[in-house]
Amino acid sequence: MTEKYGVIGDPIEQSLSPEMQNYWINANGIDAVYKKWHVKEPELAAFVDRIRAGEIKGVNVTVPHKERIIPLLDRLAPGARALGAVNTVVKAGDGALVGYNTDGIGFLSYLRQMAPQWMTDKPCVILGAGGAARAIIHALLSTPVPLIMVINRTFERAERLCNEIGRGRAKPVPMADFFDALMPSGLLVNSTSLGMTGQPTLEVDLSSAPIDMVVNDIVYKPLETVLLADAKSRGLTTVDGLGMLIGQGEAAFKLWLGPDVDCETGTMVRERILRKVHST
Ligand code: ATR
Repeated sequence: MTEKYGVIGDPIEQSLSPEMQNYWINANGIDAVYKKWHVKEPELAAFVDRIRAGEIKGVNVTVPHKERIIPLLDRLAPGARALGAVNTVVKAGDGALVGYNTDGIGFLSYLRQMAPQWMTDKPCVILGAGGAARAIIHALLSTPVPLIMVINRTFERAERLCNEIGRGRAKPVPMADFFDALMPSGLLVNSTSLGMTGQPTLEVDLSSAPIDMVVNDIVYKPLETVLLADAKSRGLTTVDGLGMLIGQGEAAFKLWLGPDVDCETGTMVRERILRKVHST
């Protein structure tokens, strides 16, 4: 029987996950389908029961359920526990429902792939202190980076985030110090939605960025944001926002179907997603 996988959220129409997951399912000749389920908060527990009963094999979880689903699961993988957020649910061999968070792994694997020269012995600057920043900082803490400087419109939020997950290696830095923060750094990440179509532009001055800096924007609409275009014009290495999306999806696919499944994460998948992005 065709196995069911999918993504749950409210709203869910905008999700791009089916574009890549169904591509990988077909490419591997697996008898499965990946759907979008619009699940509202009061329906969440009943939905989780459907996974428990085996009707649904695995799900991705998006806003607003990433935290709310936790008490409905049996256990959490260490990354999800540290982040307090789940984006993938897997039914383990013992029947337990296990929550994972693959956002950070996805971000990091694409960054390493696209910018292998990234100097992990230098500090990083992260713009933003929301859920995406949390996953990115957590992932960066698994690398040798000595310091993560978190710059956010609301300074107190950056401060709180660093205290919660920074393990002494992340510190909040005022926006006014952006220029100085860039100077010793090897990586700049925009984790805010600024620069996305329909949102205000991210206004930052990259003139103090060293030439070996990698600039990564998590925004993927447009694919080349003003930030990335500016970085490119200065000769810096740029990494676009499709990576985190594709990387988290690849990690989830492998959690469900095993590490040896084939996941094309290059042109074929990128083009499918971009076509969808531009049609909405
Ligand atoms: P996500 O889960 O996608 O990270 P979020 O938790 O809502 O979303 O966080 C959004 C981030 O973008 C925050 O860092 C937010 O800054 P504040 O903490 O000050 O709200 C940042 N952000 C959103 N709109 C912004 C704007 N107009 N100017 C500056 N920062 C903005």
